[in-house]
Amino acid sequence: MTLVAEDVRFAYADRDVLQGVDFTALEGEVTALLGPNGAGKSTLLKHFNGLLRPDSGRILVDGNRITDDQAQLREIRSRVGFVFQNPENQLLAPTVRQDVSFGPRNIDTADEVDIEATLARVGLDGAGNRHPHTMSNGEQKRVALAGVLAMDPDYIVMDEPTAGLDGAGAERFVGLIEELVDAGVSILLSTHHVGFGKAVADRLAVLKGGQIVYEGDTIGRDTADRYGLRTWALERR
Ligand SMILES: Nc1ncnc2c1ncn2[C@@H]1O[C@H](COP(=O)(O)OP(=O)(O)OP(=O)(O)O)[C@@H](O)[C@H]1O
Ligand SMILES: [Mg+2]
Repeated sequence: MTLVAEDVRFAYADRDVLQGVDFTALEGEVTALLGPNGAGKSTLLKHFNGLLRPDSGRILVDGNRITDDQAQLREIRSRVGFVFQNPENQLLAPTVRQDVSFGPRNIDTADEVDIEATLARVGLDGAGNRHPHTMSNGEQKRVALAGVLAMDPDYIVMDEPTAGLDGAGAERFVGLIEELVDAGVSILLSTHHVGFGKAVADRLAVLKGGQIVYEGDTIGRDTADRYGLRTWALERR
């Protein structure tokens, strides 16, 4: 399945954020969306599972335009998982196990989901009884990802998966993403870390000034510098 934005415009009250975005994330690939703070990366990502609606233009999931139809939205949200930038927005239950089983219970697939195996996939074997709010930021991010994985999505949209993680934590996410791709999940993520983006992504795009200003299968240092992107993370070691 592919995620497509066609000439998408979006404003919060009087702040124009997306000003004619054309963007495609392909099935079977990892796509990284780069861009400076406030460029609108989170805003664009939230369009791909219907958390936000464009003021004009179209969002297509697998060729189908997202509309206001509630049944369609439920279907899209079960296929396109969303991992928020801040795990505190996502982790609501008192234990990890309850948190990860929340989504499947909601759509009546709880019997089919092996919570322990899902936790093992994100390197949190045996953490089911822990309290999410006593875990480190990196662990919380992986609990949030496990909650999305438990829904067995085709696509996972991750907003800044490495924000707040140290080098080892970010590298762990590189391995995790590679395993997800091997398991057939397509991934669209945003990141400030050009090095991380280059390490994981098949395609990179830069959002700036409300539009996609660069797309390619890699990005050079000069280009990254020109768009004000941070290039030292993960690279300067
Ligand atoms: N709910 C909101 N109401 C009003 N303005 C908002 C809202 N959310 C975001 N904005 C503004 O929209 C712009 C784009 O924000 P967004 O969070 O999409 O950027 P971003 O590229 O994800 O930034 P960052 O790299 O800091 O995560 C910013 O100027 C931000 O202040
Ligand atoms: Mg953001």
